[in-house]
Amino acid sequence: MAPESARHTLSAVSTKALREEAARLTGQFQQARRDPELVILEGFHALKHALRFDARIDAVVSWDAEELARLSEGFAPDISEVIAARAQIVSRKVFRQLGPYEPHTGVVSIAHRSHVDPRKLLAERGGAPLILLEDPRHRGNLGAVIRVAAAARATGVLTTGIHDPWDPVAVRGSAGLHFALPVAHLERLPELDRPLLALDPDGEPIRPRMVPADALLAFGSERHGLSSSLLERADARISLPMRAGVSSLNLATSVAAVLYSLQLCGG
Ligand SMILES: C[S@@+](CC[C@H](N)C(=O)[O-])C[C@H]1O[C@@H](n2cnc3c(N)ncnc32)[C@H](O)[C@@H]1O
Repeated sequence: MAPESARHTLSAVSTKALREEAARLTGQFQQARRDPELVILEGFHALKHALRFDARIDAVVSWDAEELARLSEGFAPDISEVIAARAQIVSRKVFRQLGPYEPHTGVVSIAHRSHVDPRKLLAERGGAPLILLEDPRHRGNLGAVIRVAAAARATGVLTTGIHDPWDPVAVRGSAGLHFALPVAHLERLPELDRPLLALDPDGEPIRPRMVPADALLAFGSERHGLSSSLLERADARISLPMRAGVSSLNLATSVAAVLYSLQLCGG
């Protein structure tokens, strides 16, 4: 057994190393939040999908190794070993210093965003619809659109307006499915070489074979709907029929209804 003075020296050295590691991690996360090439993944499900869809991950940090193992076994047994190997376990105090939001799953990560050229995406004609969100205001809703667009095999999601579609709140809303299809922000909608269809509660009711396979489907913002300029540019305005008295559907719900009706009943 080491003499007492040596034990004190050892514990001082390990306390110092822990403090330095905590400062390094806090700095790494602060820098990642400011870096437009990176994104913070808040929570387990965002990490799970990021890994499944081959995102480049720089850091995985958790304060609860047991909970992380339980979540991995329960929801991602296919990648549980990768998660265990990548995760760095820290104290809850250090974890709380990594950002303003503490995910209840006790894990945050740093990933590299996928590179997408919105103009190239608009020019691609892959035979599946491409989604355009005009100035979506609710970042959770934006994420929910990306999640259903990924599930229903849309070509991609483009957004205009004030929000970065890669905002961590939107990535939490998509459960990390930003990595499953191209997602990008567009300053202005350029001239198009594909049909533009406006989804609008006052449009013509949707029916089978009404929507061309690689249409650009435009959805408006939560409060104001589509702008008059986009409605004027559109080749057609189509609606999801609603019971009398209902004004509109939620944005993500309307994207889901359109994509699945196209998938199940044909364009
Ligand atoms: C919450 S709604 C906007 C409501 C807005 N007050 C309006 O009248 O358009 C958000 C977007 O979801 C789409 N949407 C909602 N309900 C729809 C419906 N019944 N048919 C087609 N699109 C719909 C539209 O693109 C709309 O701009």
